[in-house]
Amino acid sequence: MFDPDIVRRNFPEIADGLVYLDNAASTLKPISVVEEMKSFSLHEYANVHRGTYKLSIEASAKYDKAREKVARFINSEPNEVVFTYNSTDSLRRVALILLGNRVVSKGDEILVTEAEHHSNILPWRGLARLSGASLRILPVDSEGVPRWDMIDDYLTEKTKVFAFGHVSNVTGSIAPVNNVARKAKERGVIVVLDSAQGAPHLSINVKDMNVDFLAFSGHKMLGPTGIGVLWVNRELSEKLEPVFGGGGSIIDVYRDKNDISVEWEESPLKWEPGTPPIIEAIGLSKAVEYLENIGMHEITRYEEELTKLLFDLLEDSIRNKIRVLGPLDPKRRLGIVSFTVDGYSVNSVALYLSRKGIAVRTGKHCAHPLHYALKADKGSVRASLYLYNTRDEVERFIEALRSLVT
Ligand SMILES: Cc1ncc(COP(=O)(O)O)c(C=O)c1O
Repeated sequence: MFDPDIVRRNFPEIADGLVYLDNAASTLKPISVVEEMKSFSLHEYANVHRGTYKLSIEASAKYDKAREKVARFINSEPNEVVFTYNSTDSLRRVALILLGNRVVSKGDEILVTEAEHHSNILPWRGLARLSGASLRILPVDSEGVPRWDMIDDYLTEKTKVFAFGHVSNVTGSIAPVNNVARKAKERGVIVVLDSAQGAPHLSINVKDMNVDFLAFSGHKMLGPTGIGVLWVNRELSEKLEPVFGGGGSIIDVYRDKNDISVEWEESPLKWEPGTPPIIEAIGLSKAVEYLENIGMHEITRYEEELTKLLFDLLEDSIRNKIRVLGPLDPKRRLGIVSFTVDGYSVNSVALYLSRKGIAVRTGKHCAHPLHYALKADKGSVRASLYLYNTRDEVERFIEALRSLVT
């Protein structure tokens, strides 16, 4: 059991009592992550994999170590972990790689769900347009959960790629990853999992998930901005060629009459052209260390406890004034709770809560199709929890809502 009151001392931004419930957008940073990045920047920094002097060799070793730590966090091999800039960048890179390698072409189908974040819809829309393939959309039910029961009808012999979210950034609902990914893999479909809202809260074991690509962002899991992860299945990684390379991603480049020949580096370097986000990778590895010291199972359990409390407190008189999007059973979701309040615009709710020292997000949370499907055209207010939130904060949040609606 970890003590959230002790954890909170590591996060100066909440020291003055701010109730920070915007964790699905981005999390706060613990002192250890910031100190590590500062110390590395001031005393150990040099470009990596390019220098033959001590400082660069040591910086390279530290960068490689960061990759090893992130790999261990998701139970993968280090050479399957590619550092990118965020989840959006990871997903866009997959789409470009599949386009460049002509994995998808005219007449093929790409399957996504109606619940996706735009970052996991627009690259596939782009890939479909550029390749001549068509996009298919697995619809959501009245709770905003993808119709997983219809997956067999939506995976056809034309499906080449299936991209879906691990955890919805609107409803908090958790996808049955293994089950649906297995069905896709059995049909030879490439499976892409957007784990931007999964990796920060759930223990990840890529060996057990049946996916080919997995994306997540450092800044949503106590790490810095500017660093993302793209996990690439080794076998596929070896088969695919980078579309565009750059410094650091090649063994050799030479002129071949009127052409340029390239010998690519092994994975993961062939997927990391240009100077990578070195300082940010070091910061992310420290964040991973922080999460692992507490334990991902313990973090999930604690967040489940807070989510259950939130729903229990919502049960009484204010429940009929507030519409929660997504499953009402807290067992079917993580601590991401989007809602609307009768008679109030989403921004007026957020401003009211802000005056009470509570930070929430409003809008359609980059998931417009899902909001339209749920007939929440004006968006929703979203409260999202993380390990430094407390029972007391959940009570303050519900109390603030009660004072607004009663
Ligand atoms: C489910 C989901 N996917 C993708 C993203 C994109 O993440 P990033 O902004 O870090 O690229 C987000 C961000 O909110 C998200 O919630």
